[in-house]
Amino acid sequence: MEIAFEDGKDKIDKRPLLSSSWKQLAVVGIVAFLGVCLGVLIGYFSRGDTTLPTDSWEYMLTHEGPSWVSQRLIDDISAANIEENLRLMTQNTRLAGTAYDLEGAQYIRDRWLADGLDHVMLTPYDVALSYPTTPNTVTMTTANGTVVFTCRRIEEGFENDPDAVTYYSAYSPPGQAEGDLVFANFGSMEDFQYLVDQGVDLAGKIVIVKYGGVGRGDKAVNAEKFGALGVIVFSDPGDYGNPDGPNYPETWFLSGSGVQRGSLNGDYGDLLTPGYPANEYAYRTDINNITATGLATIPTQPIGWEDAATLMRYLSGPVAPSDWQGGLGFNYSVGPGFVGPYANRKVQLKVTNQNVLRRTYNVIGTIRGSVEPDRYVVYGNHRDGWVYGAVDPASGTACMLEITRVLGSLLKSGSWRPKRSIIFGSWGSEEFGLIGSTEWAEEHVKTLTQRAVAYINVDIAVMANDTMRVRGSKLLQTVTFDATKKVPSHESSLVSDGTGKNRKSPGKRTGLEKTLYETMVENTPDVNGQPADIPRYLEMGRGSDYVVFYHRLGIPSVDLMFVQNREKPGVVPVPIYPAYHTAFDTFDYVKRFVDPDFKAHQAVARVAIETVRRLADSLILPFDLLAFADKLQAYLTGVRLEHGEILTAQGVSLDYLESAVTNFTSAAVRLDRKIVDVNKLNPLEVRALNDKLLYLERAFIDPLGLPGPPFIWHVAAGFSEFNFSSTAFPALRTPSLMMAL
Ligand SMILES: *[C@@H]1O[C@H](CO)[C@@H](O)[C@H](O)[C@H]1NC(C)=O
Ligand SMILES: *[C@@H]1O[C@H](CO)[C@@H](O)[C@H](O)[C@H]1NC(C)=O
Ligand SMILES: *[C@@H]1O[C@H](CO)[C@@H](O)[C@H](O)[C@H]1NC(C)=O
Ligand SMILES: *[C@@H]1O[C@H](CO)[C@@H](O)[C@H](O)[C@H]1NC(C)=O
Ligand SMILES: *[C@@H]1O[C@H](CO)[C@@H](O)[C@H](O)[C@H]1NC(C)=O
Ligand SMILES: *[C@@H]1O[C@H](CO)[C@@H](O)[C@H](O)[C@H]1NC(C)=O
Repeated sequence: MEIAFEDGKDKIDKRPLLSSSWKQLAVVGIVAFLGVCLGVLIGYFSRGDTTLPTDSWEYMLTHEGPSWVSQRLIDDISAANIEENLRLMTQNTRLAGTAYDLEGAQYIRDRWLADGLDHVMLTPYDVALSYPTTPNTVTMTTANGTVVFTCRRIEEGFENDPDAVTYYSAYSPPGQAEGDLVFANFGSMEDFQYLVDQGVDLAGKIVIVKYGGVGRGDKAVNAEKFGALGVIVFSDPGDYGNPDGPNYPETWFLSGSGVQRGSLNGDYGDLLTPGYPANEYAYRTDINNITATGLATIPTQPIGWEDAATLMRYLSGPVAPSDWQGGLGFNYSVGPGFVGPYANRKVQLKVTNQNVLRRTYNVIGTIRGSVEPDRYVVYGNHRDGWVYGAVDPASGTACMLEITRVLGSLLKSGSWRPKRSIIFGSWGSEEFGLIGSTEWAEEHVKTLTQRAVAYINVDIAVMANDTMRVRGSKLLQTVTFDATKKVPSHESSLVSDGTGKNRKSPGKRTGLEKTLYETMVENTPDVNGQPADIPRYLEMGRGSDYVVFYHRLGIPSVDLMFVQNREKPGVVPVPIYPAYHTAFDTFDYVKRFVDPDFKAHQAVARVAIETVRRLADSLILPFDLLAFADKLQAYLTGVRLEHGEILTAQGVSLDYLESAVTNFTSAAVRLDRKIVDVNKLNPLEVRALNDKLLYLERAFIDPLGLPGPPFIWHVAAGFSEFNFSSTAFPALRTPSLMMAL
């Protein structure tokens, strides 16, 4: 290029004389030429739709994706296919870092290649996982050291399954401890303090606690502070079971041998390579000296409630407060130690866990965008589970595989391709601390920050079949709700089954037909028990693979899940589906108790595919600026109400924050108007507007981080440093500001 230009200039320079009038003429000529070019360009983009073929680039640059695609995608999602996917995904156990990690990844890869995705690859990472070397034990011993009782090591019916991992708490340090037993409710700091106030000395004791109240890892961290030697944890039948029976396998409630496994790690990403991808050239910290939020130096071991009953029945000491009681069928005492037939017995805990470096795999599948291939809508779900993981996570994987099938078949037909790229992630090792998604995002941090439009997460697709709940960035509220307005309610008896044969004939709406949105509204009672105006839209949590995308990178994210309506008459509310993280979470469990017809699964998959389509195919990114601005206002009001006084007393003024939120709100209103007014026929204007929208939530990420948990960087939608519950403007609520008075 450079040389050709020089050649041209030489030729001109060789002309003997160039009069100034000639030069003027040349300038005028160039201007005129540019004018013509401009005219041509303007002409291109202002010609009527009828003159542009819809598959021409001029048309595609200036128009929404075709609207027929929406109904087609929704109709094609088949409940029967999702059921079959779930059956296939639950043939094997899915523990991360085992042979089934790779086997599952290869299976997904092959499916996606067959579906017709443009590019599919496995991304391996070597990360620190944790497993028991031999089954951990909890025993009761007599004064002379004889073991008189041993807790179960695995669920009833799974004793001979070599692939089902025995009960354990991942990343609990190995160790052996013996002492008098003390019951400490949920194991919160308040619970331990209460015991101390009652004169119960925790030093040298083994504590037994219920799941709930505080995070899995907090229990041992707190217990250690009070001098305890080990922690035993169980799911109380008052919370997860049906104390008067029947339980699993007759009902979905937790039977006495069911144990919630889980990771104690309260951080996320590989613990040896914080901030960086765990690839082959990564620098790793010492695997034998892991530190993370939630990791204590005393061992933790989970047991079933049948065994917890044996351990707790003859506890000595005062009766525990009424709100510590549960469903074991007797009044809980706090100890320490035993009375009656168990007098002088001790409890012994032996944990053999080891941290090991294991390879885990993501599968990344891409559909290349037709107009903006460098803009990504990312959709993800993890693949690993504690045992068979039917609900968690295979319900989500079964939906994802149906979504890629449906998108793929449309791609293959040649009639449609999304404007923006769609990237699917089947993440590895989520259960140990959101590891696969985090490592991948760390590897592609620059590209994702610059190019990812949104992240959609469907982990557990269905944990109960009452209603769908959405959590996420407020920017995505409207696009998600709009999708639910296009999807028939799972309760509707006239929904298409995906065969195309039952498709409703237009104009034949019957009373039975309703949208999922309507069901969601019905299931969102306001304070008076009446249906609210719009469904609930919850704060982004920190419980699944969206964390790195949302809380670290500021990519607007949304998480979809079907849940119980805990307020509905007749519903027995549970904190989470009772088989969560147990060996009982199988295909059979889903089929019998969670979603027998897979209608809720179908509804989630339909909302997800329609949300993805809207994000990938709309001309202007469908972000709700006003909902986002309202949320900031609400955050501010909340901070003022809860902490205004204490902050003022310390000389911290909220006036500037209020001014900033007000200014943000008026800017949001202006930008919202611009969305209506923008010249849609000018691709540069549209792209510039989309870039503003794309980077909006990135502006809330503080690259220097925040006080509190590592790599949680969203300054507005964050977490309390005290207990990790979601908190607005978390940096305003740090201990130094809150506790000084
Ligand atoms: C230990 O004590 C139990 C009763 O608590 C008794 O049955 C057993 O024989 C004793 N064993 C030894 C070795 O003394
Ligand atoms: C473990 O790591 C901490 C810092 O993370 C360090 O202070 C300590 O010395 C290490 N311990 C061992 C045994 O290497
Ligand atoms: C528990 O204690 C209360 C009195 O505090 C008593 O009324 C009740 O019967 C006891 N329950 C059981 C199961 O022993
Ligand atoms: C929800 O699941 C229950 C079984 O737990 C089933 O009886 C019911 O029909 C399901 N509802 C819908 C709408 O699929
Ligand atoms: C908000 O805008 C006003 C008017 O432009 C300006 O004076 C004020 O400093 C802005 N507030 C903040 C916190 O930047
Ligand atoms: C978390 O801590 C904050 C501040 O102490 C408190 O207001 C909130 O209720 C706590 N949340 C939970 C779930 O304990």
